Amino acid sequence: MADSASVLADRISSKNATVCVIGLGYVGVPLAVASAQAGFSVLGVDVDENKVEQISRGVCYVEDKYSEELLPSLVSSGKIKAFTKMSEAVPRSDIAIICVPTPLKKDGDPDLSFLKSVAKSLSGLLTDYKLIVVESTSYPGTTQEVFRPLLERGGKTAGKDFALVYSPERIDYGNASFGVRSIPKVVGGVDEESTRLGAAFYTAILQAKVVTVSGPSVAEATKMLENVFRYVNIALVNELAVLHEILGVDFIEAIDAAATKPFGFMAHYPGPGVGGHCIPKDPFYLVYKAKKAGFPLRMVSTAEVLNNGMPKHTVDRLLGVLRKVKKNPRRVKVALWGLSYKGGVKDTRRSPSVDLLKIFRRLGVKVVVYDPFVGTIKVGSVQYTSTGSLLDSVKGVDAVVIATNHAAFRQVDLSVVKAQMNPDPVLFDTRNLRTRAECEGAGFTYLATGRP
Ligand SMILES: NC(=O)c1ccc[n+]([C@@H]2O[C@H](COP(=O)([O-])OP(=O)(O)OC[C@H]3O[C@@H](n4cnc5c(N)ncnc54)[C@H](O)[C@@H]3O)[C@@H](O)[C@H]2O)c1
Repeated sequence: MADSASVLADRISSKNATVCVIGLGYVGVPLAVASAQAGFSVLGVDVDENKVEQISRGVCYVEDKYSEELLPSLVSSGKIKAFTKMSEAVPRSDIAIICVPTPLKKDGDPDLSFLKSVAKSLSGLLTDYKLIVVESTSYPGTTQEVFRPLLERGGKTAGKDFALVYSPERIDYGNASFGVRSIPKVVGGVDEESTRLGAAFYTAILQAKVVTVSGPSVAEATKMLENVFRYVNIALVNELAVLHEILGVDFIEAIDAAATKPFGFMAHYPGPGVGGHCIPKDPFYLVYKAKKAGFPLRMVSTAEVLNNGMPKHTVDRLLGVLRKVKKNPRRVKVALWGLSYKGGVKDTRRSPSVDLLKIFRRLGVKVVVYDPFVGTIKVGSVQYTSTGSLLDSVKGVDAVVIATNHAAFRQVDLSVVKAQMNPDPVLFDTRNLRTRAECEGAGFTYLATGRP
């Protein structure tokens, strides 16, 4: 065993190892590209034939500049190949990295079916010594209690016949400052050899440092902590934003001022809700595990109530102001700017805009949508199609709601926008992209989250 591990360590240090990335999504594609750029041969696997076909043509479908730039040449030079079956790639690989989805089930509990299915398939493919890495997000104990037993069903033992590591992915795609290679990586193996091999691999592909921890559960807990931290802190500023709107105090200015403290404070900003694939989902993996352990997480549950209340708070506030300027909510038309959950991307997963659209519809408010990145979005049975341009979205409307921090909404000349709108227009900036002076100077009644 020690011999097999040192052979693999040599193959990693000489970049002769073959890396199999299982799950070619937002996480898997950049990781495949980083591995190939470092010199490893990469065999990608995805059950989605369409994705495999696109990767095989060198087409990058994830919004990641780094991958978009490098994938085509890495595919044409044969460094990255893609397959639909694990059996076509795993036997030829030294390292297998699992990046499959870990969503929530309808009842809100973790859905580990993708991870379990991969473990079962892998168990029959561990013919020679390999390093197996789980990157998918899950609660502490998943690797040791759920993944490992399924993997060992084939008769091989972790820490003896193969190395097993959990290393959470921290990528924030669309983030221009931090990409897959520049974010430090946490690695926790089931034994020292596994941790050593995992750390050696990530050190070989990253520019950032690799942090080793005492085991997979600590690495899983690290990821949970990071995303619970964000979820709870966003809830805190959401709650305080609403308070300061009532108090008549500019809370955004207060956050910016607090952020000048060089220690002990990290700025979070309020908004119309919490979106994306990770922050509103991951904390509920820990909630599940905590409940199982007989220790319900009160903080996350409170945060959930606060965060989920923000879309309704946004709509209530807007309609209150429209009524003040004598506009009947049932007769007004609102332009919703932004459908994706964050600026500069087309991802609409759990976007607060979806909740805003649901509430507006329930209240009978007519809405026109515009997003420079998203063409259409389906909310229940209704499909919303973005107008062709930002100015098209505001023709004859009474209010604009900025729901996403896209650069275009920061830059547009507001007096040109106002000229297209009905008299007494309202601008509700839920992302605090524009100043009160700009909006009022252009003739808008101004509303902003966290500001009176
Ligand atoms: N998206 C992010 O920014 C991000 C960041 C950090 C961590 N994560 C975590 O990483 C994991 C993957 O997330 P993602 O955003 O890349 O998901 P994704 O949905 O974009 O990609 C997952 C891919 O796995 C494929 N897949 C499913 N079952 C498979 C199987 N049995 N074999 C091979 N492929 C299979 C799917 O077809 C899909 O292409 C999740 O646990 C997520 O929580 C995501």
